[in-house]
Amino acid sequence: MLLQNQSMEELLVQFLRASWLAATLPIVIASFSIPSLSFLRRTLLGLAARGKIMQSSSQKFTIPQRLFFHFYLVAFLWTTLLLVATWAYAYRMVPVVAEPFSYSTITSFLTGGSTIRTDSHKLRQGYAAWEAVSLLLLMEFHVLRRLFETIHVFDYSPSARMHVIGYLTGLFFYIAAPLSLCGDCAVEVFNFVANLVTEFIVKGKNQMQVTELDIWQVLTPLIRLGWKHWIAAAVFLWGWIHQYHCHKILGSLRHSTDAEEYVIPHGDWFEIVSSPHYLSEIVIYASFVVATGGSNLTIWLLFAFVVANLSFAAVETHKWYRQKFKDYPSNRFAIIPFLL
Ligand SMILES: NC(=O)c1ccc[n+]([C@@H]2O[C@H](COP(=O)([O-])OP(=O)(O)OC[C@H]3O[C@@H](n4cnc5c(N)ncnc54)[C@H](OP(=O)(O)O)[C@@H]3O)[C@@H](O)[C@H]2O)c1
Repeated sequence: MLLQNQSMEELLVQFLRASWLAATLPIVIASFSIPSLSFLRRTLLGLAARGKIMQSSSQKFTIPQRLFFHFYLVAFLWTTLLLVATWAYAYRMVPVVAEPFSYSTITSFLTGGSTIRTDSHKLRQGYAAWEAVSLLLLMEFHVLRRLFETIHVFDYSPSARMHVIGYLTGLFFYIAAPLSLCGDCAVEVFNFVANLVTEFIVKGKNQMQVTELDIWQVLTPLIRLGWKHWIAAAVFLWGWIHQYHCHKILGSLRHSTDAEEYVIPHGDWFEIVSSPHYLSEIVIYASFVVATGGSNLTIWLLFAFVVANLSFAAVETHKWYRQKFKDYPSNRFAIIPFLL
């Protein structure tokens, strides 16, 4: 059973990694502007462009951009489900990881520093589960704000569109991204929930074993996760706050001008880059890499996709601003200060 779970977990992780790679590579290749590959660039732009950078001539198979809120609705429901299930599973693992978490504790177990070798897998699973809870909590915090913004802050113009393939990619992204954050324990969590459901069906509600909820044990493992998780939380908050400010600026632009008109945004990170809301999204996903100490390849690949995807869109946005406004500030970069 343990071996079967491990190979299922391997399979899921390989699938997620392959998906991020398959989505990132074409964008990276298209970004080099190689003349013989210009069709790839045009195709990707047609699929990924939205709003102001989508040409009016290319509106075949497009849907309103305001349907962006579907992404965050799906993300919110899916992340909540994963978070609750992983948290419940991690709570069950608490006795195994009652010692303060640290890599040294784990490495000591793994390298035979302890005689309780059989516990090493459980210890690793317990740590992975609590780490996943911390990452999913951050994701939940992010997608909740985005859901609120797409409904109450942004003022999508009726003519703003996105390609239906871009829409489906967005839905896939918000299924695969939260799953990538808990990929190392997702199969165990799934089995845990499946067992609970089976027990409930077989025994009925009254016969189920009642677990006492100790609020201290629900929260303490998260607090003890380690310093890199606190640094990650600070990086996350930094990106989160700036993205909120930039979205508020974008959302307010339409109130002072014609409903369909685009204007030059000012304030916050808009003074240094053209797409600070994309830059802050990159900072938010970078915090996931920090939280895992850069040791989780799936999360690195998720991060690489976010960087490639948003940089690609930001370069087009920057070009669009410079063409549309003759007085566009020349000191602004597209997305990464002093680099791009
Ligand atoms: N994680 C990912 O891979 C990923 C992918 C895509 C997006 N996102 C995130 O989702 C958020 C929104 O992205 P988006 O591509 O939808 O942003 P966007 O195209 O810049 O549009 C955001 C809103 O601001 C308005 N707006 C933009 N520029 C304006 C201007 N110069 N003047 C007036 N209004 C303007 C748009 O109006 P119109 O509707 O009229 O265009 C729209 O309502 C970003 O924070 C981004 O990071 C993340």
